[in-house]
Amino acid sequence: MIAAPKRTDIHPKERRMILKHADDPSYDTSVDCYIEHGGYETLKKALTLKPEDVHDHVMKAGIRGRGGAGFPAGMKWKFLDRKSGKPIYLICNADESEPGTFKDRQIMHKDPHQLIEGMMIAAYATNTAKAFIYIREEMPHGAVILEQAIEEARAKGFVGDKIGGSDYSCDIVVHRGAAAYICGEETGLIESLEGKRAYPRIKPPYFPAALGLYMCPTIVNNVETLCHVVHAVSMGGEEYAKIGTPNNSGTRIWSLSGHVQRPGYYELENGKHTYGDLIYEIGGGLKPGRQLLAVIPGGSSSKVWRAGERFKGKDRGGNEYDWAIEDVPLNFDGPMTAGSMSGSGAVIVVDDSVDIVDVLANINAFYAHESCGQCTPCREGSLWMKKITSRMTSGHARPEDVDLLASIGDQIAGRTICAHGEACAWPTQSFVAKFRDKFLERAERQAASGSGDIRLI
Ligand SMILES: Cc1cc2nc3c(=O)[nH]c(=O)nc-3n(C[C@H](O)[C@H](O)[C@H](O)COP(=O)(O)O)c2cc1C
Ligand code: SF4
Repeated sequence: MIAAPKRTDIHPKERRMILKHADDPSYDTSVDCYIEHGGYETLKKALTLKPEDVHDHVMKAGIRGRGGAGFPAGMKWKFLDRKSGKPIYLICNADESEPGTFKDRQIMHKDPHQLIEGMMIAAYATNTAKAFIYIREEMPHGAVILEQAIEEARAKGFVGDKIGGSDYSCDIVVHRGAAAYICGEETGLIESLEGKRAYPRIKPPYFPAALGLYMCPTIVNNVETLCHVVHAVSMGGEEYAKIGTPNNSGTRIWSLSGHVQRPGYYELENGKHTYGDLIYEIGGGLKPGRQLLAVIPGGSSSKVWRAGERFKGKDRGGNEYDWAIEDVPLNFDGPMTAGSMSGSGAVIVVDDSVDIVDVLANINAFYAHESCGQCTPCREGSLWMKKITSRMTSGHARPEDVDLLASIGDQIAGRTICAHGEACAWPTQSFVAKFRDKFLERAERQAASGSGDIRLI
């Protein structure tokens, strides 16, 4: 039994569903505590329903994936190749590797049984033979908590043979990750789980729902996504769908970091708030005397927004919008409408105390390090972009580097096996497009001072 650390600053605007108990000082990670708070009742309810009816709740709830792409979970489960006759596997993606993201670990560290219950309901609905939690290697504490929680749940009959006295059996294995960003990409994760290097597979044909773990139909869902399954089945899909806004149901945990007064994780009803609410009200605003420079709205791979820019157009429903950053709805669709994405829900705030070139240099160093190296555009391009931005930060840039940088980004995106290509290209493409003046100014200053040369640092 591990007690959750105390956190008292839950913002009144939060609607805590997934993190409802997480920061309650009297709440701990034991199965008894979870049961005392109504835990595993939804699994029991699910076992009285037909698997397809449980699936139907998830469909009606409209749960969208919280791992990055926002794909509807129920729809993904529908794609499972059931005709193959092969066993079906469920994998919980607990790699949480996108820089800026720190929400899944809150769930695993503070309320592991909620995840286990969500996984067992998902497993029952999809007739999963075996389930796995692939947890980031750098979260050893989380792995210990999960292993202990699974053991306790197994002893109570909620995991393993004949769950809850039913005919359905399914066990969960905790697998510690291989400590690389690419292990979070679902097909790289599957390769790693099979004991190989995390080389992503090409889609098609290797869509996990058809050819996943051991070439069997496999569902990969994020930690937070699987927890939402508990609530969708508990309250019924239609009731769940009333939370949040159309096409953006439920709540979402946002990881807020960077230059705000109150960085942290905040669970909010989807679409009921804006980026302005999160940054200025919930996050306490910028540090005294500072101006906003940029916002990275959905993890380091998402396209940056420059302070003061406006997003105008017509949304899918034909409604006109004219937003500042502060007006963009905090949900899946708002950031996409504004040319970026909500990604993993990691909002990074950048003020004028830093140079934007340094920010991109930092991001590029990460993505160059994390490319698995299979595809030439990603392997060579990410390194090349890193070299140019390092050159800029060390005072050796040339004015032509700005266009060179942008053109490399343009030649990576859309030309690779996995979305790491976009993840490494989007920051460079968007930073250079939005802050071209700053990049040029820095490069021209360095060239004028005689320090610009073609050294590749
Ligand atoms: C480079 C890369 C890294 C990723 N890292 C993660 C991660 O750490 N955690 C995660 O849940 N999804 C990650 N994803 C997304 C997964 O591939 C996959 O879409 C997700 O786990 C599906 O779960 P969801 O539908 O519940 O969101 C990553 C994707 C890419 C391209
Ligand atoms: S895009 Fe990058 S990370 Fe993805 S498979 Fe290709 S080289 Fe590897």
